[in-house]
Amino acid sequence: MADKQAKLEIGGATHEFPVLEGSTGPDVIDIRKLYGATGAFTFDPGYKSTASCESALTYIDGQEGILLHRGYPIGQLAEHSSFMEVSYLLLNGELPNADELSTFEHTITNHTMLHEQLMTFYRGFRRDAHPMAIMCGVVGALSAFYHDSTDISDPEHRKISSHRLIAKMPTIAAMAYKYAVGQPFLYPDNSLSYTGNFLRMTFGVPAEEYEVHPAIEKAMDRIFILHADHEQNASTSTVRLAGSSGANPFACIAAGIACLWGPAHGGANEAALNMLQEIGTPDRIPHYIERAKDKNDPFRLMGFGHRVYKNYDPRATVMQQTLREVFEALKTTDPVFETALRLEEIALNDDYFKEKKLFPNVDFYSGIILSSIGFPTTMFTALFALARTVGWVAQWNEMISDPAQVIGRPRQLYTGPTQRDYVPVGQR
Ligand code: SDX
Repeated sequence: MADKQAKLEIGGATHEFPVLEGSTGPDVIDIRKLYGATGAFTFDPGYKSTASCESALTYIDGQEGILLHRGYPIGQLAEHSSFMEVSYLLLNGELPNADELSTFEHTITNHTMLHEQLMTFYRGFRRDAHPMAIMCGVVGALSAFYHDSTDISDPEHRKISSHRLIAKMPTIAAMAYKYAVGQPFLYPDNSLSYTGNFLRMTFGVPAEEYEVHPAIEKAMDRIFILHADHEQNASTSTVRLAGSSGANPFACIAAGIACLWGPAHGGANEAALNMLQEIGTPDRIPHYIERAKDKNDPFRLMGFGHRVYKNYDPRATVMQQTLREVFEALKTTDPVFETALRLEEIALNDDYFKEKKLFPNVDFYSGIILSSIGFPTTMFTALFALARTVGWVAQWNEMISDPAQVIGRPRQLYTGPTQRDYVPVGQR
């Protein structure tokens, strides 16, 4: 019995509901019995005040700009860890020792190759197909090839399909890029790191040896860490809802990819760079700031604002620092970075953005880095999906293993016509 209770008066009666406490963060009011007790539903479009599940994976304090993965601050993981190590942490709950990490990396490396027949799927797409359209299609098609790992009730099946998804996403994403630019696919090279292998499959060509640039490999690996998981965001909630019906993991991740594609979510990194390039020079920033504040103008500052963060997104801080490191390594710069810095400075000093607590989020600087490494903007969200796959599968595994989890089936506030009789067409 929970020590704390919440009281609700409705229909002349008072009802009590248990208040549950987590290890940190807001309490939740357990309203699972609300409809049975009161005949009423809660109403929370966009789930702004709703906890959909219990989770031990990722904690966000939006007011303070804190992001923890299994308790470890994102800044420390970005500085000291690797994407493979963070993946192990998310999946297993603890940082691996050297042997555990080596075994995990070996397992993932040896699942990076795709079934040869999957290559033919790419030929069916137009060359100008958006990489996210390809990712949706090819990842969903994995369930047609790996029937030996779709029994979600079997922990071993869940484990192998999780490893397959994490391992194959770089190959699928790199092939989407190669198909778009008309270059031959490269097979994985097991002598390279997870991220080095991805860079080679993307930018290497059969005619010559590809040298992985250590600073770019480190920056890319850190960008993957920054995108690995993020609590119950829209695409993760999509994966959980799809998984709650018993759908196979490949179909669930394909659903997550589809949701991530939206410009309000993972598609914002592509939209943010397009916006910065449209703004062009800093003197044009005030015009766009005014547009972003105009209620009659659908334009928003892409890469700004967040449902949870009402402070600086800690990932954006690391992203900006990584951008400087990449520019240093490549001995380059991009005028759009200056525009981004100036836009941030002006917005953060504008009353509208201060009052609504709108800060740069993970997507504001990521596009500039990815563009400087050589990725076209159309690949940005595919890279987000690549990295988020480990978060999606970790959340999916947590949901399947949760005895309290049942099929997700929200209700509604119905405002349509009440019952009426059919009228024959001649009498209408
Ligand atoms: C990601 O959930 C996650 O964790 C997502 C993510 C992850 O890792 O999974 O962090 C990744 O999706 C980051 C967000 C990327 N999206 C963008 O950068 C797109 C631009 N941002 C907005 O569309 C918006 O900020 C959202 C969608 C991110 C959040 O929207 P909310 O929480 O629904 O907030 P809202 O739309 O109700 O905005 C509150 C107010 C509104 O004004 P009022 O109606 O109160 O007058 O702030 C305004 C909005 O108009 N506002 C903006 C704005 N974002 C919100 N005004 C101008 N520019 C913006 N970017």
